[in-house]
Amino acid sequence: ALPYANGPLHIGHMAGAYLPADIYFRFLRLRGEEAIHISGTDEHGVAITIAAEQQGVSPRQLVDHYHGVIKEGFRKWGIEFTNFSRTSKEIHHRTAQEFFLALYEKGWFREAESEQYYCPKCKRFLPDRYVVGTCPYCGYERARGDQCERCGRWLEPKDLINPRCAICGTPPVLKRTRHFYFKLSQLRDRLVEWLEGNDFWKPNVRNTALGWAREGLPDRAITRDLEWGVKVPLPGWERKVLYVWFDAPIGYISATREWSDEWRDWWQDPDTRIIHFIGKDNIVFHALVWPGMLMAHGEFNLPYDVPANEFLNLMGDKLSTSRGWAVWADELVDEFGQDYARYGTALVIPETKDSDFNWFEFRKRVNGELADAFGNFVHRFAKFAEKHFGGKWPEESVDPEVLAKVEEAHASVTRALERYQFRKALSELHALAIFGNRYFDRKAPWKEPGASGRVIYSCAFLARALSVLYEPFIPQGARRVRETLGITESLSWDEAARDDGSLRGRRLGKVEPPFKKIEEERVRKKVEELMEKAEKKGKPQYATLDDLKRLGLVVGVVEEAERIEGTKKLLRLKVNLGRETRQLVAGLAEVYSPESLLGKRVIVASNLEPKRIRGVESQGMLLAADDPEGRPVLLTLDDPERVEPGSEVH
Ligand code: 2FM
Ligand code: ZN
Repeated sequence: ALPYANGPLHIGHMAGAYLPADIYFRFLRLRGEEAIHISGTDEHGVAITIAAEQQGVSPRQLVDHYHGVIKEGFRKWGIEFTNFSRTSKEIHHRTAQEFFLALYEKGWFREAESEQYYCPKCKRFLPDRYVVGTCPYCGYERARGDQCERCGRWLEPKDLINPRCAICGTPPVLKRTRHFYFKLSQLRDRLVEWLEGNDFWKPNVRNTALGWAREGLPDRAITRDLEWGVKVPLPGWERKVLYVWFDAPIGYISATREWSDEWRDWWQDPDTRIIHFIGKDNIVFHALVWPGMLMAHGEFNLPYDVPANEFLNLMGDKLSTSRGWAVWADELVDEFGQDYARYGTALVIPETKDSDFNWFEFRKRVNGELADAFGNFVHRFAKFAEKHFGGKWPEESVDPEVLAKVEEAHASVTRALERYQFRKALSELHALAIFGNRYFDRKAPWKEPGASGRVIYSCAFLARALSVLYEPFIPQGARRVRETLGITESLSWDEAARDDGSLRGRRLGKVEPPFKKIEEERVRKKVEELMEKAEKKGKPQYATLDDLKRLGLVVGVVEEAERIEGTKKLLRLKVNLGRETRQLVAGLAEVYSPESLLGKRVIVASNLEPKRIRGVESQGMLLAADDPEGRPVLLTLDDPERVEPGSEVH
């Protein structure tokens, strides 16, 4: 995916998309596949303009800054792109406009006038994330106008319940405007059929997309009333831009085009496989909308696979950059180096379900698996060879036991990586390193060094294989191990499991432990820092008047009241709120008889998410205080006759 250039990346981004993509890409290249790895920063849309506004800079300044930050972060992580571009480049604007016009000419758009939210206070249209409100599907209260962060659904601002301007909190008004709508509904059957055929996809991705497609795909507006973005290339439309999720995926094509004149080979040759590495919040776009755009266009390949990952948590809690509960990509790599950043993150790639990054676990596994198992193994037999074989690998051949183990591991790691099972691949490799250590112990070459040539040669062969199979995960560490083995040339994936005799008599490189252990103290400090940061950011904040408004406190009149059978405390009430009557469930029965409540004017929180209590829906809450025994005392009005039901309480 193209990361938004609106902030630095954290480990969730790395684990969810960029590291798996890079591991897979390196794996393909080691296998001799012709492969390219394409990305760039996503520099349009409301994610950018809102962040720019909040930071008091122009969108241009914001994206220039974060493009640099993100690109440099990838360099440090060893995430290698064939081309890492930007959607604000001219070539992208041109490519996106051509794509738009191709669909336009084929009749895939309809122009329609509609009512769109407009903020009377900010005096502008409020597309996408400029509106926040409650998700109509899952009830999440801070859903954005374009997508619900909790359930992942693609939304329209008008779907939101209780909408508010994201900048000033004002409820928006509707204003007429014209937009192009993409006729996605006409592609639904083809998309369903295509998804059904992709039976090799990860089930979570395929099922999620199929579920949404079967529910029906509405036509969606793909233009916006904004200034920042790719201009709609038609006369009379100069003041509108393409919706960011229309232009961004085309960025995959424009970045390829920027890189090479042969870009069409990569997008049109039926033998090319396009694989999108994304987090689950991007599923709807990569498995439905973008394939739909490509179907409509007709000249490009559809995605071959979309191995989306789930979410990464941190120390058992949801990552949250605003609460300071995060590990930044730069922080991890700057403090622990590329190998440990990559390895520690690869261990927790959320392949099939949400996973957790834990600093203590990170240290334990990096130390145990890289420093102890792999590193120590290499260091032990290499030291031995230095001392007893004059710093050269003996002229021997591989012990069949070792060869069989290596071949087996090679096959299972290959299978795992082909299926994007990165964690499985790592545990196979760890098992192979443990086998190496045990083999060395079992053969005890120190007992008779002169007769241990084959054992030492076999260890070197095994380490050489490990260095290649580990390379997609930890390219730097793998290179260091090969240097120790005296190997400077590059080796392919399959050569790793073959004894081609190239180690015989070869001079060793410098023998040093290839990995250094992390002291407990260092991760303890990281956890303390995290707690401190989160506490600072999470300091009790004053509620705003908007917060109070959001509760929807109003006066209601109780019109019906009855006990809920089988309960001691619960009453079912019908309360008239002026414009509507709500059913509420209240825990008042031990103190108030149903009759005593009839006609009472009470205070109701009317904007709460409806809840089922003992099977009865409660559409709000009555306000009450507690007496010293914890029994409810209902809040009523001082002079009830003076207020109408429905009057706002503030
Ligand atoms: O979710 C995101 O971070 C988006 N910027 C991903 C865009 S991917 C592609 F379509 F460009
Ligand atoms: Zn939702």
